[in-house]
Amino acid sequence: MYLILPLVSGMIYTSLRGEFRLPRDKVYLNCAFMAPVSIRVEEAGIAAVRTARDPSFISANDFFDSTRRVRVEFARLINACDWQQISIGPAVSYGMSAAARNIPFAPGDEIIVLHEQFPSHVYPWKRRAKETDAVIVTALPRGDESWDEAILNAFSPRTRAVCVPNVHWTNGTLIDLVALSKRVRKADAYLIVDGTQSVGALPIDVQEIQPDAMVCAGYKWLTGPYGCAISYWSERFNNGVPMEENWLARKGSENFAGLVAYTDEYQPGALRYDSGGSSNFVIMAMLNEALRQISQWQPGKIQEYCARISDDSIAELRAAGFTIPDRAKRASHLFGIQVPERYDHQELATYLKNNHISVAVRGSSIRVAPNVYNDQSDLEILSDAIIAFTSDPAH
Ligand SMILES: Cc1ncc(COP(=O)(O)O)c(C=O)c1O
Repeated sequence: MYLILPLVSGMIYTSLRGEFRLPRDKVYLNCAFMAPVSIRVEEAGIAAVRTARDPSFISANDFFDSTRRVRVEFARLINACDWQQISIGPAVSYGMSAAARNIPFAPGDEIIVLHEQFPSHVYPWKRRAKETDAVIVTALPRGDESWDEAILNAFSPRTRAVCVPNVHWTNGTLIDLVALSKRVRKADAYLIVDGTQSVGALPIDVQEIQPDAMVCAGYKWLTGPYGCAISYWSERFNNGVPMEENWLARKGSENFAGLVAYTDEYQPGALRYDSGGSSNFVIMAMLNEALRQISQWQPGKIQEYCARISDDSIAELRAAGFTIPDRAKRASHLFGIQVPERYDHQELATYLKNNHISVAVRGSSIRVAPNVYNDQSDLEILSDAIIAFTSDPAH
């Protein structure tokens, strides 16, 4: 059992560190890099490894049940109506490549991406643009422009796809997907979202946003293992061409005796976009347990919790001269601390590492990514360390 303690109003739950085996002498604030695996997810994985001792217990149904459970949990998390619109692959690049392949671009059509967007959500579009003579348009705020304004200003009559995240992976800047989706629909374009740095820690409702596709890596805010990504597909993609032709994706493959009665038909919905081997029993068991724990922790509460444990440290850092955007503009589970240019950022990164603090230093910004296993003292250790480094005349 894990503890979700309603305390006083405003407090959501206490740190869930007891659910993890994180070393006590480390401050891990880097879930945007990789989530630590919780005890229950680890145990689900170990139990699944043990089933391989005797495969005679593995039935044909297991190949489909293991993925169906994950699809159902994920559909619930993002409020999708139908679990058959969820596919499973090895990485974000895989899902994005399938999306890119199935959008009919004409020469001169435009694909909007963000400046410094994660490469797995850029390279598939670059390749598709090359194949079809479409053009990549990179949105970058100018002057006082917000990211939302920069994206809207990047639209033209030739916009055919808008490929963006929900939060910028480098600093947690929020993108207003509901407003953007309306503009995308007006342009009769496609909205393709990378939910990797948000889904699991930030509430997302695909019925409200109506993305055409959304892909999420499993090993960050979904708290699952490395080597999996889950995609949501709108019905617009239901007749598309998958990246590969795997038997599991074909209609009727549940009947092992009939596998060589080859068929041109696929499984219903978006199941055709599964990668071969997607039923990997260990990965699916861990991912399923991870999704179940997220639905108990609740993304909305994770946001509130992360805000609560970081508020004081953010105030302290601001008072010491560091810039952190207002909460309305950024996520609470992922934010950047802008460090003045005069400091050696690489030296700061080494200093934090030597003090057993895990964050990501990207350019002149420190990316902080707390989650339920952190508490206020972790954030205080971080802010004290940054202030100590920058106040030392030797730096
Ligand atoms: C925004 C974002 N998307 C995707 C990924 C992972 O991509 P892939 O699963 O293709 O390795 C990351 C990893 O850091 C990321 O930050």
